Amino acid sequence: MLDQKNFTKYLDRHEIDAAVQNLAAQINRDYENKSIVLVGVLKGAVLIMADLIRHLTVPTEVEFVRLSSYGKARTSSGTVTLLKDIQADIRNKHVLIIEEIIDSGRTLKFLYERLKAAGPASVEIVTLLDKESKRVVDVPVKYVGRTIEDQFLVGYGLDLEEYNRNLPDIYYLKYPN
Ligand code: IMP
Ligand code: MG
Repeated sequence: MLDQKNFTKYLDRHEIDAAVQNLAAQINRDYENKSIVLVGVLKGAVLIMADLIRHLTVPTEVEFVRLSSYGKARTSSGTVTLLKDIQADIRNKHVLIIEEIIDSGRTLKFLYERLKAAGPASVEIVTLLDKESKRVVDVPVKYVGRTIEDQFLVGYGLDLEEYNRNLPDIYYLKYPN
């Protein structure tokens, strides 16, 4: 665990909740009279998935994938592999990928292309946080909770070496190294 004095609060739980409710309202409006398959990206998206689905009024299936992660490094490696696939048949269905944060976009690009290849009616991306300035590959992100600066964040699903996902608020690290 990191020294707590290096953690500075970045978004508190009420701000996160407001952003999630706002995303849900957009989705409820855009997918009215449709049903959707949500695909959460393990492990970080577990918290936003749990909170978002409680605000959705459209018929919803919940799936998860797990992709190779940063491991113990803090920058993405460029190679992404699938560790756990979805179970549902998404052919002709509306798919929404649920992420907690996008950085280089490599993880999402890989998943987006893979899901598209399965013949869904549509695939869109939802993310709570977007480090837009860090994008290396182009990926169409339709629903963004907040566009943020390049900062290393923990809490609300975001981890540092697997710890701190459980924090209800989001913090940035003053001295990440
Ligand atoms: P990308 O492939 O570079 O876009 O990386 C996306 C993934 O890296 C996210 O799904 C997170 O798991 C992780 N990640 C990116 N930025 C942060 C951060 O600030 N804190 C913790 N994890 C992060
Ligand atoms: Mg993630």
